[in-house]
Amino acid sequence: MKPVFIALDFVDAPTALKFLEPFKDVKPLAVKVGMELFYREGSIIIEALRDQDIDVFLDLKLHDIPHTVLQAAKQIGQLNVQFTTVHSLGGSEMIKAARRGLNEGAKQAGVDAPQLLAVTQLTSTSEEQLHDEELVPVSMAESVSHLAKIASQSGADGVISSALENDLIHQAVSEEFKCINPGIRLPNNSVDDQKRVVTPTRAFELDTSGIVVGRSITQSDNPVKTYKDIYNAVNGGIK
Ligand code: C5P
Repeated sequence: MKPVFIALDFVDAPTALKFLEPFKDVKPLAVKVGMELFYREGSIIIEALRDQDIDVFLDLKLHDIPHTVLQAAKQIGQLNVQFTTVHSLGGSEMIKAARRGLNEGAKQAGVDAPQLLAVTQLTSTSEEQLHDEELVPVSMAESVSHLAKIASQSGADGVISSALENDLIHQAVSEEFKCINPGIRLPNNSVDDQKRVVTPTRAFELDTSGIVVGRSITQSDNPVKTYKDIYNAVNGGIK
């Protein structure tokens, strides 16, 4: 089944755990912990979530020299999380170091190693920025598919991408390579700061491997029902 990661974009652990209380009998349940919450709470929030058998996507987007990433990834590998992220712009050696670190950390802790997802170009990067600031001469699409290929060859299991890029990435790498998609909105939701959004049903049609959903669930009047509806839709069920 394709996971729906609820983005726990909350300031601290008590707020995040309070939000999750009504979900206590909901299975499967998966969440994304990002920098905001992790920098505040550290591994305590991860332990609290794993104790409740919740799958965790720890989204820290590592990007540093390979040795530092190796050491950081060893720490993440011990946390028993299911997914984590690196920037593919850090290069093949750095991505390989992340993969190795995750495997070594997980082995040391006697847990399964997390799947490694790569960020290609941030969705906040514009085509102009790519050309004018980074001096990258190729198009955004070419850069994204090239970086996805490098990530795959370096041991990543997939990428974070707009659902609209899934086809391009699957063609460039393979059908098995995971495309996890944020930028999801329900038909009646406001778009907020996201630019190119798709509905859960459209993400299913675009062959998503799983989606990240924040405000559509966290700001819903009935978060549990919204989560279940989205989960069904992204798995090819209800519209
Ligand atoms: O509230 P919303 O559904 O827009 O939240 C999406 C989540 O996914 C946020 O945690 C955001 O940081 C993250 N994300 C994103 N776009 C990316 C990568 C991550 O929106 N390209």
